[in-house]
Amino acid sequence: MTSTVKPLSHVMDIEPYLPGDSAVEGVTRVIKMSSNESPLGPSPAAKQAAEGALAELERYPESSARIVREALAERYGLDALRIVCEAGSEQLINLIARCYAGPGDEILFSAHGFVAYKIAALSCGAKPVSAPETNLTTDVDALLALVSERTRILFLANPNNPTGTCLPVAEITRLREKLPESVLLVLDGAYAEYVDKEDYSAGLEMVTEYPGNVVVLRTFSKIYGLAALRVGWSYSSRALAMALHRLRGVFTVSTIAQKAAVAAVTDLEHENLAREHNARWRPWLNQKLSELGLTMTESHGNFVLAGFASQEIATEADFHLRSNGVITRTLREYGLGDCLRITVGVEEHNRLLVGLLQEFMAGK
Ligand SMILES: Cc1ncc(COP(=O)(O)O)c(C=O)c1O
Repeated sequence: MTSTVKPLSHVMDIEPYLPGDSAVEGVTRVIKMSSNESPLGPSPAAKQAAEGALAELERYPESSARIVREALAERYGLDALRIVCEAGSEQLINLIARCYAGPGDEILFSAHGFVAYKIAALSCGAKPVSAPETNLTTDVDALLALVSERTRILFLANPNNPTGTCLPVAEITRLREKLPESVLLVLDGAYAEYVDKEDYSAGLEMVTEYPGNVVVLRTFSKIYGLAALRVGWSYSSRALAMALHRLRGVFTVSTIAQKAAVAAVTDLEHENLAREHNARWRPWLNQKLSELGLTMTESHGNFVLAGFASQEIATEADFHLRSNGVITRTLREYGLGDCLRITVGVEEHNRLLVGLLQEFMAGK
């Protein structure tokens, strides 16, 4: 029998998401600076809470992650009923796309926006539309120019991954004011906790100012160091949260993840340590790499974007780093083949990376 079963054509248009590599063939000691994970790891209290949850493995988790929603509501002064938790914010990106767009619709994002937005658009059969940027930064006017009557969702990561660039809240408000009411603005604040700029906001207050028109996404994968446990959350109007609840997986946030997330978001001391570490080492990396002649973009996340003279040189630099056990993120699928994205690491790893790139650039 020959099967004639076929996936939907728009599914085959998806180029599968390429996560940062974590292994190099033939190299035993690998230092991973490719996925924007926290170099300090999670709060000790979060680890302890996760271990404590091992006593309840036979039980299904509480399906709405109530304890996480309540801890977040307390921390940020939010309405717990407007928070939806899922197995990572990447899942929420997909849920929002499936909930609000379909074939014939358009989903808009910035040219170097997080690649999950394009994948989410294709997976629900909508057309991904990307707007040009200015100096590797989201350009509000370019986005507005591409809004059509088919546009349903605009995804905007602020700060953006992989560029690290960030828009002030006044620009985000201007964007929202000029967007039609039929367009949902999704503000992805995966790196919000790292931003130290007076004119910045992750946009939680905009959810109340523009009910039904703004959703904020956040994650426990970055500053809280819980990427392996998969916890992301959204903040929106209650109606939008109810729509997401209809589509979301029922038991996707495990009890281990929920308990660890609650401990993480209440351990302000550890969060501050992680933020201070980043505030010290991100500028250091920027400075050292710019002294080597690399073009550094002003990043507000826990990573830097290093530009080489050409894609060929960036590829060679990546090879040199990998051969010495250091993995950074190549960005060909973002149209940034001449760049490497480098996650801020612990001191030893940052120094090793700079030393290796010094060695490499000396030969150029
Ligand atoms: C901008 C942005 N949004 C969302 C995510 C997804 O994070 P997670 O699914 O781990 O919560 C990432 C991860 O790299 C990201 O960079």
